[in-house]
Amino acid sequence: MTSTLFASIGELVTCDPSLGDGTPLGVLRDAALVVEDGRVVWAGPADGAPAADERVDCRGCAVVPGFVDSHTHLVFAGERSAEFAARMAGEPYTGGGIATTVAATRGASTEALREGARRRVREMTASGTTTLEAKSGYGLTVADEARLLEISSEFTAETTFLGAHAVPREYVLDRGAYVDLVSGEMLAACAPNARWIDVFCDVGAFDPDETRHILRAGVAAGLTPRLHGNQLAHGSGALIAAEFGAASVDHCNHLLDSDIEALVAAGVVATLLPAADFCARTPYPEARRLLDAGITVALATDCNPGTSYVTSMPFVIALAVRELGMTAAEALWAATAGGAKALRRTDIGRLSPGASADLVLLDAPSFAHLAYRPGSNLAAQVFRRGVRVA
Ligand code: NIG
Ligand code: FE
Repeated sequence: MTSTLFASIGELVTCDPSLGDGTPLGVLRDAALVVEDGRVVWAGPADGAPAADERVDCRGCAVVPGFVDSHTHLVFAGERSAEFAARMAGEPYTGGGIATTVAATRGASTEALREGARRRVREMTASGTTTLEAKSGYGLTVADEARLLEISSEFTAETTFLGAHAVPREYVLDRGAYVDLVSGEMLAACAPNARWIDVFCDVGAFDPDETRHILRAGVAAGLTPRLHGNQLAHGSGALIAAEFGAASVDHCNHLLDSDIEALVAAGVVATLLPAADFCARTPYPEARRLLDAGITVALATDCNPGTSYVTSMPFVIALAVRELGMTAAEALWAATAGGAKALRRTDIGRLSPGASADLVLLDAPSFAHLAYRPGSNLAAQVFRRGVRVA
């Protein structure tokens, strides 16, 4: 078993409040970290570091936990730049473009889908993401949804069945039959490669009764709920997420006080996706209102070809600071420890003993540069389970 000492860390963000400066970020200055067998075994002041077999000189730079991107639509074919241009010229986002990506995805070979996913994962990793969630939802037939989940599971254990992303064209005259398909045969084909079940619960997507029906079936099949909710209008997504004890409700652009109270009481994470609002030109969620209410906030990319063809968590952090009014510390926490909570994981999103050695060595003296220098890739080196991956 080889051990590695990460030496001369100028600023170490542990996301463990018992370490360092007593804030949720648990920041240590002039620090070191020891990794053994893919795990962090020691974190503390540089002058107290134990000996190790190998050494990575961090040259006074900042080290942060690898980003946890807890919401992506990783596997799809095609692109929708014309739809983006139309939006920038004033067209609203409605979700109608999902059908365009469904057609392209159904027509793509498995190898082409896998290659597209691989390219996006490479981009994500290069910007510091070490864990990602991946949803199906652009197949919408039994075989195509199962295929998307098979491919997703080659890249991550955090796979989500989203057969209820849209009602495909061939079912628009019989929505009930599609809801039954999603809750029955499609779920059965997808569950072996899925950990989570998701529904796009919003205007023009799935209504509250349909959402409950599908979630109930997913839970019976052993999957855990997470939801797309309250993105396009005020709806029931947040309340249903609370009712089902979902891990997270994602988007949260339109919330009433009663939604917020329900989320707090049920301990549901609110995952904010400001890159989607940036690219769809929709109003940003009120992060401060959620934080002040005591809700756990996560940040994710929502990487997809419609609303957010974005792979960079640092870009999301910069938006969260500039547009959502979060501090750089809150945004980094939400992009690491918050994402881990949204995925109910305790082994990632932090750099303290026992955690997976997923870390980013920044080409900057402080994590604050993630927000301060938008557009620059500051991820100089990225390690996953102690192995350099970028
Ligand atoms: O999370 N809101 C629903 N689904 C995606 C967008 C899907 C698309 O437009 O292709 C989202 O924003
Ligand atoms: Fe999404």
